[in-house]
Amino acid sequence: MKVVLLPGDGIGAEVIAEAGKALAALVPEVEMSEHLIGQEAIAAHGEALPAATLAACREADAVLMGAVGASDYSWSAANPEDGMFTLRRELDVYANLRPFREGEIDLLIVRELVGGLYFGERGTRADGTVFDTCEYRPDQVERLLRRGFELARSRRGRLTSVDKANVLATSRMWRERAEALASEYPDVELDHLLVDTAAMRLVEDPARFDVIATENTFGDILSDIAAALAGGLGVAASASLGDAGPGLFEPVHGTAPDIAGQGVANPTATIRSAAMLIEHGLGRPAAAARLDAALDRVAARLATADRGGTASTAELGDAVVEELGAATGELADV
Ligand code: NAD
Ligand code: IPM
Ligand code: MN
Repeated sequence: MKVVLLPGDGIGAEVIAEAGKALAALVPEVEMSEHLIGQEAIAAHGEALPAATLAACREADAVLMGAVGASDYSWSAANPEDGMFTLRRELDVYANLRPFREGEIDLLIVRELVGGLYFGERGTRADGTVFDTCEYRPDQVERLLRRGFELARSRRGRLTSVDKANVLATSRMWRERAEALASEYPDVELDHLLVDTAAMRLVEDPARFDVIATENTFGDILSDIAAALAGGLGVAASASLGDAGPGLFEPVHGTAPDIAGQGVANPTATIRSAAMLIEHGLGRPAAAARLDAALDRVAARLATADRGGTASTAELGDAVVEELGAATGELADV
């Protein structure tokens, strides 16, 4: 089994190191290799997603990414985030699963990841007008919604489709596709929310939600809200899945330039993403559950600064590996 690690930029390398330790402890037969993406790749090779990185990802069973990004948003700057967009699109990992659990909250955001505003035509007209366009083909919407229905079916049977159908043409088509599919999933209760209302309801009553299916940009924003309600960005994980080929697993957070290099970032989100990788990418749900349980036990006694504690990134990662050993006795057995 091959796993490609893409540390990326900022705290990416710090959190990936801890997830790598947990992966090695839990699935010792896994072969890990590290490759460049983002700002680090631009510095070394002049491009955010070098061909060697993409080739390694294609050959792997799964990819675990830290984060990419710099803080230079000037137009002339090479965009490290482009490496990640290209990777998402090339692997066609259209369904980004972002689970949030804390207290009464147990919701899953299924974010469309390879279309919409992120991938539509953009440019500058002769008069200086700058434009980004939001575009969706019906089949892109349908496959994402099917994922949402299926995931809802495997959970509490409720799917909330989030759009802006009072304004946007893409959203009207989105809502129509959701309605058309609903008859194929009679066991799933479908409702629709406009994205502004969805944001409010998320804050007011997050426990009402089971699965939320939504387009790329809305999912990006709603998932940071959900993260704030369920333990913060330091613990929010994700899995990006297509219909075939390797999945891409990554925390919801970014490169956290404000704390990068200090060894204080919370590695939990990335280690939980590694658990999703073990489940969905390596097909080992029992091992994934062990890793989640180890993280829960560690969280009960140890916290990084974002969670009000003083533990370092490595202390938390080491504690997870220790917990895994304590729980299984014989790690190689799991
Ligand atoms: P961010 O997620 O990097 O940070 C937001 C805040 O959360 C910061 O205060 C940060 O310190 C904190 N935080 C994030 N992760 C944390 C962790 N693991 N432990 C403790 N605290 C944590 O968002 P930003 O600052 O808006 O973006 C910085 C850069 O990251 C940008 O270039 C952005 O494009 C990029 N980004 C990348 C990804 C990705 O690669 N998937 C995701 C989001 C943002
Ligand atoms: C995320 C991030 C990225 C996104 C950024 C870095 C472009 O915010 O994965 O949530 O918006 O997809
Ligand atoms: Mn985001």
